[in-house]
Amino acid sequence: MRQLIAGNWKMHGKLADVAGYAAAIRQAPAHVDLLICPPFTLLDRFGSALKGSPVALGAQDCAPCPQGAHTGDVSAAMLHEAGAQYVILGHSERRENHGETNADVAAKVAAATAAGLIPIVCTGETEAQRDAGDAEALVRSQLVHSLPQNFSGVVAYEPIWAIGTGRTPAEDDVAAMHAAIRAALLRHLGAAGAGVKILYGGSVKPGNAASLLALPEVGGALVGGASLRAEDLLTIAADAPCG
Ligand code: PGA
Repeated sequence: MRQLIAGNWKMHGKLADVAGYAAAIRQAPAHVDLLICPPFTLLDRFGSALKGSPVALGAQDCAPCPQGAHTGDVSAAMLHEAGAQYVILGHSERRENHGETNADVAAKVAAATAAGLIPIVCTGETEAQRDAGDAEALVRSQLVHSLPQNFSGVVAYEPIWAIGTGRTPAEDDVAAMHAAIRAALLRHLGAAGAGVKILYGGSVKPGNAASLLALPEVGGALVGGASLRAEDLLTIAADAPCG
């Protein structure tokens, strides 16, 4: 499986940043799929700047319903029209800051899929949950309750305590969690579970990417802070093994 290296800009970036960044990431190495997920306001500009390049474009959230009186929400079809092919769903920052539940994420997955977007569904435990030995059970439960049984998309494992902190789990712990996620996907989705890419996210940067991306069942990375510099995202992509 080709690895997917996805940049999550979160709430960063201005229109003026797009042209230079897009020109730089067009030089993406050919052995990986590269994806950039900017804020809603930059999607259209990024779509134009990346036209004709293999770099894909994604959003960071979508509404659970197709249209209507939902002030402040953006539908999956609107994102698709703006040029997005992917959408990140259930990021821990949305689960924490906006009270998103697994049921909310499941509704968004259905809306995204109906609009032709590829969902990237995020999972991950808090430090207290890991210390209590509950990490795998928690992530399994997030998967089972966030993914429909006909799910087609990508899953990301992002331990919450590793996001933006510079800390990463031990390699054995990443490998064990990714193996547990693969087993849960096979149980939940049947044979189709074998084809779901499982990204690792949480303080991925040049310097630690090569060893994280080489772990079994790691199918790429979801990169926050380090994706804001095109050179860093490209270095991470170059470090991904050939699929
Ligand atoms: P980080 O964020 O790379 O800055 O830790 C990852 C994410 O939240 O997707």
